[in-house]
Amino acid sequence: VRASGAVGEVPDMGKRNVMNLLLVGAIGLPATSLVGGFAYFFVPPGGGGGGGGQPAKDAQGNDVKKSAWLKTHLPGDRTLTQGLKGDATYIIVKDDGSIADFGLNAVCTHLGCVVPWNKAENKFKCPCHGSQYNDEGKVIRGPAPLSLALAHAAINDSDTVIFSPWTETDFRTGLQPWWK
Ligand code: FES
Repeated sequence: VRASGAVGEVPDMGKRNVMNLLLVGAIGLPATSLVGGFAYFFVPPGGGGGGGGQPAKDAQGNDVKKSAWLKTHLPGDRTLTQGLKGDATYIIVKDDGSIADFGLNAVCTHLGCVVPWNKAENKFKCPCHGSQYNDEGKVIRGPAPLSLALAHAAINDSDTVIFSPWTETDFRTGLQPWWK
């Protein structure tokens, strides 16, 4: 069993609101601060089609730094972080040992369970009703109707992993994003 990073085991995380609660705790603000545009205060709307970006956060609420991350996350790794809007989002380490330029929103498109990565089977398998997604989050078995949502993942000048909204064509399906 490889180290899967500080976020730890995925399957007991349950629904997406768990991650949202984690985020609230991590940033030390009362929950009421989240109501009414918290995200917009800290994340200015981006220009053009790119939208705003924000750092991936680890389980402790710290920004994910690429160099440190890659020391403990080996090629093929998929580990949950806190992504856009607090959604549980996978950072993917490619086979060449770099961080993929897309993250995967872990929220199952069926009824919203957080979908764990199953390394042995090289796919994401939802524990709630059995939906499956391939290693890029494309749905390969229902009842989930849609693939996992994408986010752009980039490394900024401070070595931080930044997620930003994916508004372009879904490269897995050739379709417009359903999550826009
Ligand atoms: Fe994932 Fe139903 S919530 S299969």
